[in-house]
Amino acid sequence: MNRHLLNRRQFSARCAAFGLSFPALSAMLAPQATAQVLGTGAGSKPAARTVKLPDGTTVPPLGQGCWHLGQGRHPPAVEEEALRTGISLGMTLIDTSGNYGNGRSEQFISHVLAGQRERIFLVTKVEASEVSGDGIARACAASLARLGTDHLDLYLLHSPVPSAQLSGVVAAFEQLRAAGKIRAWGVSNFNVGEMEDLFRVPDGHRCATNQVPYSLNYRHIEPAVLLWCKQHNMPVMAYSPLGGDHNLIVGDRTLAFRPWVQRFPDNSAQPLKWCAIGRVDAQPSPCPGLRRAQ
Ligand SMILES: NC(=O)c1ccc[n+]([C@@H]2O[C@H](COP(=O)([O-])OP(=O)(O)OC[C@H]3O[C@@H](n4cnc5c(N)ncnc54)[C@H](OP(=O)(O)O)[C@@H]3O)[C@@H](O)[C@H]2O)c1
Repeated sequence: MNRHLLNRRQFSARCAAFGLSFPALSAMLAPQATAQVLGTGAGSKPAARTVKLPDGTTVPPLGQGCWHLGQGRHPPAVEEEALRTGISLGMTLIDTSGNYGNGRSEQFISHVLAGQRERIFLVTKVEASEVSGDGIARACAASLARLGTDHLDLYLLHSPVPSAQLSGVVAAFEQLRAAGKIRAWGVSNFNVGEMEDLFRVPDGHRCATNQVPYSLNYRHIEPAVLLWCKQHNMPVMAYSPLGGDHNLIVGDRTLAFRPWVQRFPDNSAQPLKWCAIGRVDAQPSPCPGLRRAQ
């Protein structure tokens, strides 16, 4: 059965036609863009937009997820070229995890980081099963070694832990931050109750982001987590923005064939992007889940 209504070539062609950049890698979107400049129509170069983290660091609103890289799906040179192309297009936020391919994703990324580490905003993760004792420090050291770098820009707890463990997790993250091994830390897959538990422990409010699934056809965070994060001025990092393996957008009859272009009075065309790129406090758009972008 053909699960894609648009094949990869057709999808990429549409993206290219509308000025969207989705190289062979899955794109990961980091919302709450702080600077938005509308393009002036076909042919104009999109202006750089950024997302501001609570500590003031700015990151690009579109990043590259590396879950499946370095694991033999494609020749290494092809994957490396895809990642480098994304970086050259401004997608300098790279997301991985110590457990993606048992560390092979991080090892693969080290080749691309070499010689351009300062250009990259590097995100990796520690597993909930690793947090006891000095597990976070050990996992971080192992990730740094695989990535061939001396610091992470953002270190995430991959999934929730029991609330009794949260103070230990935060203390371990803060120690890594004080030692200069990570610049910021955050969580992933936390619901509202878990975010509230986190904010109750000392330094819990230093959490930089919550990375959660969010796409046009998976919008469960909108009434709860997204709202909570907006109220607490915390950017949400959306993963599986194409719907992931099970809710693939290009396999959705309505979404795949919806024209992703809005016409303006002067007949110029503006592409639409997922609202995950936009500010959490963006005005609702006429097309739910989408907002106008340059
Ligand atoms: N924090 C977490 O718990 C968590 C969980 C999941 C993901 N993530 C992060 O988010 C990143 C992206 O998530 P994701 O990989 O689940 O989902 P995704 O970006 O939403 O999309 C993956 C799916 O889209 C398909 N696809 C990608 N480009 C396509 C194209 N041009 N045409 C047609 N289909 C296309 C892929 O097909 P193929 O399989 O054929 O390539 C795959 O089925 C990951 O790499 C990872 O860094 C984080």
